[in-house]
Parts: sequence; structure tokens; C-alpha cells
Amino acid sequence: TMQDMPAWAAQLRDVADFPRPGIVFKDINPLLAHPQARAQALTSMVAPWQRVGIGAVLGVEARGFILGTAMAMQMALPFVPVRKPGKLPGAVVSQHYALEYGSDCIQIQADALPAGTRVLIVDDVLATGGTLAATVALARQLQLEVVGGAVLIELDGLGGRARWPVGVPLHASLVV
Ligand code: PRP
Ligand code: MG
Repeated sequence: TMQDMPAWAAQLRDVADFPRPGIVFKDINPLLAHPQARAQALTSMVAPWQRVGIGAVLGVEARGFILGTAMAMQMALPFVPVRKPGKLPGAVVSQHYALEYGSDCIQIQADALPAGTRVLIVDDVLATGGTLAATVALARQLQLEVVGGAVLIELDGLGGRARWPVGVPLHASLVV
């Protein structure tokens, strides 16, 4: 119910039939444009990880860059971009995945972080879970230790959480 919603959630906007018919798009742009609500949302994303011992934040292009960078700055941690194909110079590792709409591939620079680094994976929305699962697989190709996942919004009922590794905490600031 609305009473369970944090105040910042009023700055999210549902857009029907975008980018395809039948998809209800969660538009975070009004939240990004609202400094007070944005700060509250960021606080809720950061809070669970203060004592976990994170070594770096991985953010997934494109919307995961925004929230992941903000979290990394708040926690004074390195930020590493996970990008769509063909964007990163030098040696990269790749992971293919199926999306809520379409399919894609993500990449990370092979020398981004030392093996064993404890990483937190950040994105805006957990829907089918394909993007986060692919990011876990990508991180593990580099032998990074995935110690958590953080999303602003979890869409319940799409099974996304079931694709996240058992035993690794996954925090959503809002479940809808
Ligand atoms: C959206 C969203 C998540 C992903 C969630 O990204 O930002 O990354 O889909 O869906 P899933 O759980 O089914 O994988 P999208 O690829 O649309 O692009 P963007 O972040 O570049 O806007
Ligand atoms: Mg995305």
C-alpha cells in the first residue's frame, strides 16, 4: 500500500507500454531530479553495506552507472563500469544475457580489479534478473568475490531474485 512506501518513492514514475507494448517502465528520472528524495533513496541503498567490507562497486550501464557512482562516492569506494559491448578499450571479458526485452552482452575491463576483490553490484531495477545474473557471472570470470547486490527497485513476481546467487545478500530499497 502507499503507506508502506518511503517518501522518495513518490518521485518514481510508471510509464505504460515503454519501450515495448506490455512493459511498465519504471522511470527514475523524476527521482534523480529531486535532490531531497534522491538523497533519501541513496541513504537507503547504502545503509545495508556500511559494515560489509566492500572493495569496489560495479555499476551496470546505463542506469546502474548513476546509482552505482553515487553509492561509491558515498562509501568512498572505487567504481567500475560494466558496459554494453564495444565501449571499453583494451582487454575485456564478456557475458551474454537475455533481458526483459531483447538480449544483450555486457563487458568489463580485464584489469579492472584484482582477483578476490569484494564487490557490490548495483543497478536501478531488478526485473527478470537477467542483467544482475549476467553481472555476477561477469564478475566471477575475473574471480571477483560478489558480496552483495543493491537495487533501487525490485519488481516482484518476475522471478528475478531467484536468479541471484543463493547466500549472497540482495537488497532492494523498494519492492513493487
Ligand atoms: C533495465 C534496467 C536494468 C534491467 C533490469 O536496463 O535498468 O538494468 O533492465 O531488467 P532485468 O532484470 O530483466 O535484466 P536496460 O537494459 O533497459 O537499459 P539502461 O539501463 O541502459 O536504460
Ligand atoms: Mg539497466
